Amino acid sequence: MTKPQTLDELYSRFDGMHVEGGWHRRFPALWPEPEKNFVPYVWHYADVHPVLDAAGDLISTEFAERRNLTMRNPIEGNKYATVRTMVAAYQMVKPGEIAKAHRHTPNALRLILDGRGANTTVNGKRVDMNPGDVMLTPNWAWHAHENAGTEDCYWLDFLDVPTVHLTESMFYERHPDGLERDVEDLETAPIAFRWADSVAGLDASTDTANGMCAAQFELGDPALETMRLYMQRLNPGPTPTMQTTANSLYAVIEGEGQSVIDGEVYPWARGDVIAVPSWRAFRHEPKGSAVMLRVTDKPIFEKFGWLRETFA
Ligand SMILES: [Fe+2]
Repeated sequence: MTKPQTLDELYSRFDGMHVEGGWHRRFPALWPEPEKNFVPYVWHYADVHPVLDAAGDLISTEFAERRNLTMRNPIEGNKYATVRTMVAAYQMVKPGEIAKAHRHTPNALRLILDGRGANTTVNGKRVDMNPGDVMLTPNWAWHAHENAGTEDCYWLDFLDVPTVHLTESMFYERHPDGLERDVEDLETAPIAFRWADSVAGLDASTDTANGMCAAQFELGDPALETMRLYMQRLNPGPTPTMQTTANSLYAVIEGEGQSVIDGEVYPWARGDVIAVPSWRAFRHEPKGSAVMLRVTDKPIFEKFGWLRETFA
């Protein structure tokens, strides 16, 4: 190979070699502060509910291993994620239906919205799940769900699947028997955070998350490695404005109001999911008292020293 003699010759050599000059990039690799690629958005439970019911009429759990509706961030080219690192979905299971056992490297959790009588089996331990409960299915734990009651059961799923996509670490496996065989029924289990305990935790808490809520209570021990869960109670009126590199998904458990995210107003009510992507300045403005579950990828940012937060 001859040595290029001019810049034009040098650049024409780059393409065939699959290299790029750091001074001659097509796209920048570094920038002064976080880009705002994902957009804020609110998915309304009232809109999703009838669509999920229709899916319940038209799609059986035999056909759909999980009858869920994932919330896809409405940005150009996005195939799946709700925010960069996480995905949220509404799921419905009808009486008598079973969502078969599988396991995967993504971590998952669910927040029950409506309907009693469903249960979940995680690594052979079966527990009931009822509205307000939060259940964890950590990385590679077998999990199956069943509606043993008489009401349609609705919940929200949150997973770190986009993080697993990014790191190319996806493994997924269906249980060879469809369901785990040796199952133990328990009143409760460490992976089940009960609504009554969350209320008691909020009542006892003095942590206001820098004024972003009246009280917050972390659902932890066990905790997922990639997503942290805060139950938050908010008083009426505006919170301070927060800006953080961490992404957040807020699920409204009680109350109604609006959030102002980068100057835009997003109304919300019970069962809605609010996506607050990285570095979007936001505040909440509940009309009355409200309770939300904040699901955030903050542990990733803390672990690697990438967390930056401001409150104003
Ligand atoms: Fe799953």
